[in-house]
Amino acid sequence: MNESEYKKITATVKKHLNLDLEFYKPNQMIRRLSGFIGRVGATNADEFCALIATDADVREKVMNFMTINVTEFFRDTRHFDLLRSTVLPGILKKNPRPKIWSAGSSRGAEAYSVAMMIEEIAPGTKANIIGSDLDANIIAQANAGGPYPTAEAKNIPASLRNRYMEEKPDGWYVNSEIRSKAKFKEQNLLTDRFDGGFDLVMCRNVVIYFSDEAKHGLNKKFSASLKSDGVLFIGGTETILNPKEFGFEREAAAFYRKTSSPAVSSRAA
Ligand SMILES: C[S@@+](CC[C@H](N)C(=O)[O-])C[C@H]1O[C@@H](n2cnc3c(N)ncnc32)[C@H](O)[C@@H]1O
Repeated sequence: MNESEYKKITATVKKHLNLDLEFYKPNQMIRRLSGFIGRVGATNADEFCALIATDADVREKVMNFMTINVTEFFRDTRHFDLLRSTVLPGILKKNPRPKIWSAGSSRGAEAYSVAMMIEEIAPGTKANIIGSDLDANIIAQANAGGPYPTAEAKNIPASLRNRYMEEKPDGWYVNSEIRSKAKFKEQNLLTDRFDGGFDLVMCRNVVIYFSDEAKHGLNKKFSASLKSDGVLFIGGTETILNPKEFGFEREAAAFYRKTSSPAVSSRAA
């Protein structure tokens, strides 16, 4: 795929899916798209764009492909261990009604993992847990508390699974007690406004395909959305190279604490 073909696809995707590929790394997107267009029956970029414009099924497939909803409960168990042993108890000590956000929540496994943990650490806590994602279908599934395939539920400790999960013919569901503790909404992290006052923001395995510029803008917005002393929890394979620029101190692998306001920077958000 050449540059002008990619430009045509990005314009078509923007028009029909309201998704701005300008925020994604072009080389990776071109590589991924080149493999994908044949899967919806197109042989070149023009045919692919025509299908996006005319076929709702193809639009849905493109959306799913772009957003990759892979998730699981307690993903990166050693980081969740630290969350349970240290980070969450510290947050709960300071605020018995913590405000928590799973940004790019997919089906909600991450947010519900935290809801289960809080219930274990401090039963009856009235935490305000919010999840958000670009993908409307996935948000409906998150709010329904399932179904989750067995593979996504495999890391849930047996004691929590027995207590908070139910197995149905189409997969695993969180029970109504845990479901009532998290709410999910549609939101584009790259273009929409962020809420504020969070004690904990989790944005894990979401920014892998974002450009450096987009990641920079996002880190600034996450910092602004956190309370002073709040924590940003990122993916196990991710890192923030210049945390101080955003007012963060690296506390442990994948955990950054907001210790000051972001430095003023001339870079674009
Ligand atoms: C790989 S999943 C990660 C889910 C979860 N955070 C985890 O680590 O298990 C990435 C999610 O980010 C969402 N996403 C991608 N770009 C987004 C954007 N611009 N705004 C909001 N969500 C986005 C996708 O729809 C997808 O559900």
